[in-house]
Amino acid sequence: RLPLHVLVLGGDGIGPEVTAQALRVLRRMQAKHDLPLTIEEQPFGNATWRATGSLMPAETHAAVDRADAVLFGAADSLGRAAMPAEERARGSLLSLRRRLGLFANLRPVRTERALDAVSPFKPQTLAGVDLVFVRELSGGVYYGEPRGIERDADGRRRGINTHIYDEDQIIRAARFAFALARGRRGLLTSVDKANVMEAGALWRQVVTALHHDEFRDVRMEHMLADTCALMLNREPRRFDVILTDNLFGDVLSDAAAGLAGSLGLLPSGSLSAPRPDGRRRALYEPVHGSAPDIAGKGVANPLAAILSVALLLRWSAGAEEAAQEVEAAVTAALDAGARCADIALPGEAALGTEAMGEAVLARL
Ligand code: NAD
Ligand code: IPM
Ligand code: MN
Repeated sequence: RLPLHVLVLGGDGIGPEVTAQALRVLRRMQAKHDLPLTIEEQPFGNATWRATGSLMPAETHAAVDRADAVLFGAADSLGRAAMPAEERARGSLLSLRRRLGLFANLRPVRTERALDAVSPFKPQTLAGVDLVFVRELSGGVYYGEPRGIERDADGRRRGINTHIYDEDQIIRAARFAFALARGRRGLLTSVDKANVMEAGALWRQVVTALHHDEFRDVRMEHMLADTCALMLNREPRRFDVILTDNLFGDVLSDAAAGLAGSLGLLPSGSLSAPRPDGRRRALYEPVHGSAPDIAGKGVANPLAAILSVALLLRWSAGAEEAAQEVEAAVTAALDAGARCADIALPGEAALGTEAMGEAVLARL
């Protein structure tokens, strides 16, 4: 195993609270499995801006450049309205993703039997759900130019964004997703809006050709994004790997959080193309955001952040056994009745963020 340099950026709102618990789990696994990790923490986010005038000071930028993997908490982009646009852009999560060259955002969704009663879905809908989104993270409407708010010929304001994908971006995300499906249950569902968008029509052509040329052993189906939203709550068990673009992936993965029971349970990992040494740069973060409504209260659920550490162990540290131990410890804690407020039933006692971290550590 090669040494792995991990950068921790807690960021805004509940980000630092949940990341502190994730970091305890990471350090425990480092000690237990003798993993060659170096861990560095740096300031980032709105408090850093207030203290230093910069969301991401030069030292943090430098740390990003030397990191193999970033463990990220949350960024409160809505809380940045008062900042100069240039600073907002320089310190945004999108520029961080771009700086790291991330293109494949993995968002696994699994249901826990212990949470059947918490989810709004029926137990028979939830049983056996085990799917993973491969959300294309480098392109689409998130980055397309032109963009902005401008005036039309009549002086009315209009907001402009551009949804654009080139075939290389589609191919690298699709190739990653096909390879992932090959190692799982062998089904890739490619999600687009080929019926209304040219970028979607190209998406479909490129995925079809790649399937034909390189992945005939994987079953592949195309699905429209609106149908996918329906099927995620009608028959979620049917999905294995869901490949989709940056915006659909963002929306559909939050929609799938209802299956897991809470947004506070969903981890994610984002990967770059392999570097010359064959390793990918990566960023691990919960799917949820800074949750300003509960920030500072010590009640946020840290399990999404802790499960993001499992993804780090699997995808960056090559420590599959350690990854599975973390996932099993989370399941065991839930089976034993450990609940934060977001997954507690009315009247049920809820643990705070730190106590939930303890409940997982106690099972490692
Ligand atoms: P959010 O994900 O922060 O919160 C949505 C709801 O889920 C809230 O009610 C919140 O309390 C709850 N929730 C989220 N995480 C939770 C947890 N771990 N435990 C318990 N409850 C949890 O989304 P939002 O409120 O729409 O956005 C807030 C800010 O976060 C915005 O500025 C947004 O841009 C940003 N955001 C950042 C990221 C990220 O950093 N990756 C992701 C999503 C949103
Ligand atoms: C996510 C978030 C981000 C996104 C925002 C905060 C930029 O919603 O990671 O899901 O839309 O990618
Ligand atoms: Mn999102």
